[in-house]
Amino acid sequence: MASKKKRRIGLVFGGRSGEHEVSLASATSVMANVDSDKYEVVPIGITKEGAWLLGIEPARLIAAEQSVSEGGGAEETTAVTLTSDPRLRRLIPLEGSQPLEENGALDIIFPVLHGTYGEDGTLQGLLEMANVPYVGCGVLGAALGMDKEKMKMVFQSVGLPSVDYLVYRRNEWERLPERIMDAIEQRLGYPCFVKPVNLGSSVGISKAHERGELEDAIHVAAQYDRKVIIERGINCRELECSVLGNDEPIASVVGEVIASNEFYDYNAKYLDNKSQVIIPADISQASAEEVRRQAITAFLALDLSGLARVDFFLEKESGRIYINEVNTMPGFTQISMYPKLWEASGLSYAQLLDRLIELAIERHEDKQRNRTSR
Ligand SMILES: Nc1ncnc2c1ncn2[C@@H]1O[C@H](COP(=O)(O)OP(=O)(O)O)[C@@H](O)[C@H]1O
Ligand SMILES: [Mg+2]
Repeated sequence: MASKKKRRIGLVFGGRSGEHEVSLASATSVMANVDSDKYEVVPIGITKEGAWLLGIEPARLIAAEQSVSEGGGAEETTAVTLTSDPRLRRLIPLEGSQPLEENGALDIIFPVLHGTYGEDGTLQGLLEMANVPYVGCGVLGAALGMDKEKMKMVFQSVGLPSVDYLVYRRNEWERLPERIMDAIEQRLGYPCFVKPVNLGSSVGISKAHERGELEDAIHVAAQYDRKVIIERGINCRELECSVLGNDEPIASVVGEVIASNEFYDYNAKYLDNKSQVIIPADISQASAEEVRRQAITAFLALDLSGLARVDFFLEKESGRIYINEVNTMPGFTQISMYPKLWEASGLSYAQLLDRLIELAIERHEDKQRNRTSR
């Protein structure tokens, strides 16, 4: 039997994001688990400054970055750029860097990037221009998934309940801090959560219990984004559900996160290793069904594709479910919630990778059906 040509996958990781390190961990897991009989993986690390380095292992990216920023250029890698000419689908070496041995044509890109310049629609725009199939959401879905205000507006339009909130722009805050704090106290009260609108991994997020803390919290959040969102703080359990698919997405079993801190902050998520994950969550069947239904509604309403983890709050006193947010490129190590929920639903990590690649190709083929002229 003639052996089928392997698909070349450009695995993109790192990136200009506060979640750079998380991405390296996710990419290491993907590389170790992708079926090497079917795929040839071409690792592409994006440094914190935004340089694309070809052929570098995720775990070595940080060291290579250092040598690039010291002007040395990482010896074993080539700095490349993805051409946006749709006829090529190639990685082009930057001037002065080593030539590519192979032609650089890629069949598909797998961006394992979290946060800004990766999960927010910007990279997706570049990939659309290059007309290369890629894993995950398109431009609109990714952008909506990063904007906590617009995301809630879409949720509201399809009847998904989120916690009451207010949004202010940084320049408004700088002009009228007292008036803004009065409005927050009147409408939301304490405790409240203050967050940059566009960010993730709990970076820049604080819980405020009184006016002094509120002022500090807004000051911090406004350093990360020009928009700040303030939400009523609820006493809740945190539930998460994985969604997979394109136009007919499916939802996994529901999991629960028990944060090691007062809330699920950066430390509790990545550093102290004390947060617990419970799969499946110990909730009623009716609540689990409701979470799964809302997860799919959210996925479709935001025009997502490929994958998303949808996060919920279950208010302890009322038993009410509120949707919190979607993550269009959730943490993807083997012990991350997204793949673990699928494992508990009968899909292994390697099978999940396979399915995501198929979905990317299906979506790309579907898009080629669109007419681009009259
Ligand atoms: N309105 C809220 N009420 C109670 N807890 C909240 C609220 N908003 C956020 N949190 C806590 O803060 C964490 C991070 O907030 P989230 O909106 O999920 O931001 P990120 O995108 O950084 O994950 C949540 O997982 C939860 O522990
Ligand atoms: Mg979150």
